[in-house]
Amino acid sequence: MKSPRVIAVCNRKGGAGKTTTAVNLASELAALGKRVLLVDLDSQGHCAVGLGLKVAPGAATVHALFGEADGGIGLMEVVQPSCIERLWLAPADQLFEHGSGTRDPLRLAQALADAALANQFDLVILDTPPSLDILLLNALSAAHWVLVPYVPHPLSFEGVRQLMRVLFKVMSVQNPDLKILGFLPMTAADHIRQHRSISADVSRQFGAHRVLGGIRNDIKLAEAFAVGKPVRHYAPGCRGAQDFAALAASLLPVIDCTESPGSSLI
Ligand SMILES: Nc1ncnc2c1ncn2[C@@H]1O[C@H](COP(=O)(O)OP(=O)(O)O)[C@@H](O)[C@H]1O
Ligand SMILES: [Mg+2]
Repeated sequence: MKSPRVIAVCNRKGGAGKTTTAVNLASELAALGKRVLLVDLDSQGHCAVGLGLKVAPGAATVHALFGEADGGIGLMEVVQPSCIERLWLAPADQLFEHGSGTRDPLRLAQALADAALANQFDLVILDTPPSLDILLLNALSAAHWVLVPYVPHPLSFEGVRQLMRVLFKVMSVQNPDLKILGFLPMTAADHIRQHRSISADVSRQFGAHRVLGGIRNDIKLAEAFAVGKPVRHYAPGCRGAQDFAALAASLLPVIDCTESPGSSLI
């Protein structure tokens, strides 16, 4: 049985483009034929908004996995279909208090090791909260790859560095196989000197091959989110849709090269 590949979309800063990336990359990979489960670990619940889904009050959410005691709930029990073919959501609990609940970093990894999940999904994308908390640790402990969107301005570089420190700790304890899928410049513009210089810093520190083709500034991405659609369904062919399609196409060979340790970008 092939277990689904897991990508954690992380950056400890809010507004870095994590949810935009998680929702749109998930929908692009679904369009390319992958069966994708989007897991919303951020209690702001923005993934449901971006997919136009209403989560009924009292509905089971992924945060049920993170209670103090193991509540015995499985991830499959919280999965909902979306309006998009091959794309499902494990929604967030907007009442979950980040910092509360379990201290166990492996709850999510254990929940993902479920034969029913392996049968239904090829890929799991984790949207994460903008904090260095137990949910981020769970995401990094459960993932095969981490994808780091960043807005190229000076403060965001510090956020990336802080995330990397946590990442290297997780690699040395809970998840030695975790790999960096890439750093994704959001709203990047080559003609802006500061953007070029921040992306050059990221390249120098983490390797040029890990800086992915970025997502240009496109108001259509924000509009798509507001109407509850991935951008490819809201404004096909716009800059944002083109860039996410190119990103998904560039990541697909890496995602498809499953078990070989030499196949990832790191
Ligand atoms: N490439 C982009 N062009 C224009 N707006 C963007 C772009 N990427 C993200 N945004 C907008 O920036 C805001 C923050 O993005 P979001 O994905 O919610 O960040 P995070 O999940 O890291 O907090 C949202 O309003 C989103 O629509
Ligand atoms: Mg978000």
